[in-house]
Amino acid sequence: MTRLVDLPRYELVPRPTLLQSLQRTEAALRRPGLFVKRDDLMAIAMGGNKLRSLEYWLGAAQQMKADIVLVAGTALSNLCRLTAAAASMAGFECVVFHNAPDDASARRASFLNRIFGASVRYLGPIDEHQRAQAVEAAAVDLARQGRRPYIVGDPALGALGYLRAAEELSEQCRELRRPIRHVFLPGSMGTTEAGFILGNALLGYPFEVHLVSVEYQEAELRERVRKIYDSAAALIGIDGVRFDGARVRCHMGFRGAGYALPTRAAERAILTFARAEGLLLEPIYSAKTFACFLDLARRGALPAAEPMCVIHTGGVPSLFGQFESFRDLALDPP
Ligand SMILES: Cc1ncc(COP(=O)(O)O)c(C=O)c1O
Repeated sequence: MTRLVDLPRYELVPRPTLLQSLQRTEAALRRPGLFVKRDDLMAIAMGGNKLRSLEYWLGAAQQMKADIVLVAGTALSNLCRLTAAAASMAGFECVVFHNAPDDASARRASFLNRIFGASVRYLGPIDEHQRAQAVEAAAVDLARQGRRPYIVGDPALGALGYLRAAEELSEQCRELRRPIRHVFLPGSMGTTEAGFILGNALLGYPFEVHLVSVEYQEAELRERVRKIYDSAAALIGIDGVRFDGARVRCHMGFRGAGYALPTRAAERAILTFARAEGLLLEPIYSAKTFACFLDLARRGALPAAEPMCVIHTGGVPSLFGQFESFRDLALDPP
């Protein structure tokens, strides 16, 4: 028995999220067993992976009787937007910090944070480390003024949201003729990935996990995931379920020149899934992940008897702030 059940959780995600069969894609590729888990369809702010983590982060904030939550990210950050929405529902004041200049493009990208009632601070073009320092300093200042701030983002705590998602998916598989074998996730900062991988380990490895790197080189991605996995396992008091890197496949061919930089394959995935399945993907995380999923399905790289599922981690609202990057995209059908 783990300590998972004892940790405070603020309920945000109606479960289970939809597990949808990609029938038109299956027919077009003549590849059966293609699924998407719709974590982009949740009741709050169009959903997304961060809502599962926010259940634990806001649970912790409530437990420490915080009255204000602080969160940081780029102006397009899905974490910031979902924190602004969930914090407002849970009765917390919310301050969002962007490492961006206060200009028209950042204001447009951050607009929904204001709609959800958050205060937004623009810290200028600084790096993630400087941004974290600025947030810490703001928390110290607030505490001096008698406030009780909580900084959102602890990776080990956030990972627990996807530990539960692995359990949820394995339960959904009971309804299927053939259970899902391959699960695809974006490979990024590691919180979502580590949680799912830990959940998979606790279940006895029903899934093969595929991480599609959108940000780091393979060694760094693996190291990040392993560290978060270990601290999440420690947090819930599990010993002996060691991180088994051999059970995680990393796909490095879909990142392109770097984080948030467009690729042709991602652009094609956006158009393919929009037109075949009515799905919206955003270019930074989901489009690169779906591009890899599509490529492997199209090439028959995985046995047809082993169903594949891509987790749509959300972020769709950020699509509307990225109009400029779509200017050169050939949108007309061939
Ligand atoms: C839509 C979306 N998918 C995936 C990720 C990656 O999640 P993680 O930071 O847990 O690796 C993010 C992170 O911001 C995201 O916004």
